[in-house]
Amino acid sequence: MAQKTTRFALLAGAGLFGLFLATGAWAADVNKLIESCANCHGKDGASTESDIPIISGFSSQYIIDSMVTYKKKERPCPETKYRTGDKKGQKIDMCQVAKDLSEADVKQLAQHYAGKKFVRAQQKFDPALAKKGKDVHAGQCEKCHSDGGSLAADDAGILAGQWMPYLEETFKEYATGKRPQPKKMKPKMDKLDKAQTEALIHYYGSFK
Ligand code: HEC
Ligand code: HEC
Repeated sequence: MAQKTTRFALLAGAGLFGLFLATGAWAADVNKLIESCANCHGKDGASTESDIPIISGFSSQYIIDSMVTYKKKERPCPETKYRTGDKKGQKIDMCQVAKDLSEADVKQLAQHYAGKKFVRAQQKFDPALAKKGKDVHAGQCEKCHSDGGSLAADDAGILAGQWMPYLEETFKEYATGKRPQPKKMKPKMDKLDKAQTEALIHYYGSFK
């Protein structure tokens, strides 16, 4: 709180020089936020926890959209725990994480992660299932998730190399209608049977 007052006084009192200092203060705050995200999403968003999505290299548009959806609680917010840091073991969820972020915070966070490389998860997959999944993907999903879902520019997350347990939960959220989805994705998702869904997850997990 004291810090905020100082920043305000500088801004009001010291004109341009004050603004310059204030910009420094904002940047420091964002670095703090990035540190707190890292307690779950790993360094620069390259999560090593299989139930926490890798977010490095996502488009900034997708990250902004996700954070707004969490803020409005329009997307499920499964309870989770800090994996490292001072709050290790404490419970929280993404809606609570997003709640207090300003528009400027979200924008800067999104730009930060968009500038990093998506680091594919090292995980086991079944090659036969992955092969089946490849065909399902080509027929139903490739149109919007290009190159096996590896292009950030689609603004649709990155599926290729994402953690399979996270994807499994996500498929459940879509299937039960808990997570909203694009109008043209829904009919494709609704058509998938259990075996096809499993095959898709192994296909995305096969990207190394
Ligand atoms: C306590 C752990 C935790 C912290 C801290 C945390 N996250 Fe998350 N985050 C998660 C989990 C778990 C999910 C997956 C939730 C779900 O199933 O929707 C997630 C999902 C996301 C997603 C959606 C990814 C996708 O593929 O749709 C984004 C974006 C995100 N987090 C960004 C952030 C940012 C930015 C911060 C820091 C301000 C942050 N998270 C802090 C655990 C955390
Ligand atoms: C008409 C375009 C379109 C089609 C077709 C489509 N998707 Fe999507 N998909 C999107 C968009 C846009 C998003 C991001 C917006 C959102 O999450 O609501 C998305 C999000 C996703 C996500 C969430 C990613 C994350 O990080 O949480 C998964 C998983 C997914 N799609 C899988 C599929 C699969 C599997 C298929 C084929 C059966 C498919 N999609 C077909 C456009 C499409």
